[in-house]
Amino acid sequence: MKLKTAILYSSVDGQTIKICNKIIDVFKQNNQNVELFSINDFNKDITHYDRLIIGASIRYGVHNKKVIDFINNNKKQLDSIKTAFFSVNLVARKPEKNSPDSNPYVIKFFKTIDWTPTIIGVFAGKLDYKKYPFFDRIMIQFIMWMTKGPTNSNAEIEYTNWDRVTEFGIQLKDL
Ligand SMILES: Cc1cc2nc3c(=O)[nH]c(=O)nc-3n(C[C@H](O)[C@H](O)[C@H](O)COP(=O)(O)O)c2cc1C
Repeated sequence: MKLKTAILYSSVDGQTIKICNKIIDVFKQNNQNVELFSINDFNKDITHYDRLIIGASIRYGVHNKKVIDFINNNKKQLDSIKTAFFSVNLVARKPEKNSPDSNPYVIKFFKTIDWTPTIIGVFAGKLDYKKYPFFDRIMIQFIMWMTKGPTNSNAEIEYTNWDRVTEFGIQLKDL
């Protein structure tokens, strides 16, 4: 019997969904079942699945509260199946901050939550100033200036390393 996998995402500008879709490609290439849900819409029984993957981006230092609430409210069910979590953020564009042990958001997240997924990942996201409302653009430009990143308001840079996403997908489909 085929294993059932659910992927839940929290994404504002679509980069986390794009990463989920790459993982789905890996699953499909390996003839595996996988379903994608927004964290806002998922209302199925977790134990209906053999594996559940959660991907969430960082906004102003934190993951979406809905993701945190979902994990806290479903800890028992999550602990009864194979699980994975990945974070998407711009700090992870720096090689010394792109692993679960070195990315500050991932480290902090797992200090504040009582859940240990089977696999944890972290990926660099996308910078796209033209998409951001005025206040967000100024804030991100400031963060980028502080961290020696691009501040030109036309900058559009996808930092995601797709080979690493594919490798993560391969690990997940073998869980
Ligand atoms: C308003 C805003 C705030 C952000 N805050 C942070 C942050 O605090 N740290 C960080 O590393 N990246 C931050 N980012 C970058 C996002 O995590 C990155 O663009 C990611 O690709 C977004 O994924 P999404 O499109 O799935 O939401 C921020 C982006 C925006 C637009």
